[in-house]
Amino acid sequence: MKAGTDEHKRRFCEDFIATHNPYQPEALPWPALDAEALARLRAIPFWGEVLTTERRAGAIVNAYAARIDDPLVRQAVALQAYEEARHARLLWLMARRYGVAVGDVRAEPPPADLYRAFADFGYGECLDAFLGFGVFNIARRAAYLPEPLFAIFELLLHEENRHIVFFINWMAWEQARRGRGLAWLRAIIALRYYAGAIGRLLGTVRRGRHAADGRDFSPTQAAIFLDGFSLRMLLEECCAEYDRRMHAFDAQLLKPVFLPRLAGFVLAGLRLGRVGRGRR
Ligand SMILES: [Fe+2]
Ligand SMILES: [Fe+2]
Repeated sequence: MKAGTDEHKRRFCEDFIATHNPYQPEALPWPALDAEALARLRAIPFWGEVLTTERRAGAIVNAYAARIDDPLVRQAVALQAYEEARHARLLWLMARRYGVAVGDVRAEPPPADLYRAFADFGYGECLDAFLGFGVFNIARRAAYLPEPLFAIFELLLHEENRHIVFFINWMAWEQARRGRGLAWLRAIIALRYYAGAIGRLLGTVRRGRHAADGRDFSPTQAAIFLDGFSLRMLLEECCAEYDRRMHAFDAQLLKPVFLPRLAGFVLAGLRLGRVGRGRR
């Protein structure tokens, strides 16, 4: 299937709309947590950051949806906005229920350039999801929190997975409409956006370190789950989990491939470095 065609558009929009899960956060089976589980949940330092991101996402995606001329694409993007706002509701509910401090949750108005904001946000989600899937898997396997809570967060993660598959297909379709459909041109555009997303993530990590006042916590480190994990083990986990999740999606749809490829290069470098050190 050729990216940018009407058939492509119908496929990525209809797949996204058909797989929407109509759950309500208030009706989810929130478990009772004992003192240890509560302490572990509260020790995770990035809830405020995640909640702010979800609120901001809902506002940007909703504002962008209103500007889309194609009715099917508009319906799909509006559905994503609904899901992002529901993520914020779910996290807010969790924070209230279990006494998790989320700090001052900022609510800024969406930026003026909504196309750019939507694209920046989409590539940022691709990066967060790639790292988040791996970290989530490690934390779940380590039973860091009770399984019923992981089952609730899994709803959210699966939605983020649908969002990034939808986004990458939308981006290819949109670029084709703008006359930038050639694969190499799309790759250069993606590279620019990914560089921005990685820069923003590093900025968040730096700010988190600063706010944590030298303690080994940051909004994106999840250091508490990762005790004993090397960069190599973390990247291998992220790649394996990403691959597993992406296989569950329609094989005809495009998938975000830049980050697993980049991670593959980094892993190859780390393995080479180890072989080199072993020879010395
Ligand atoms: Fe979200
Ligand atoms: Fe999302």
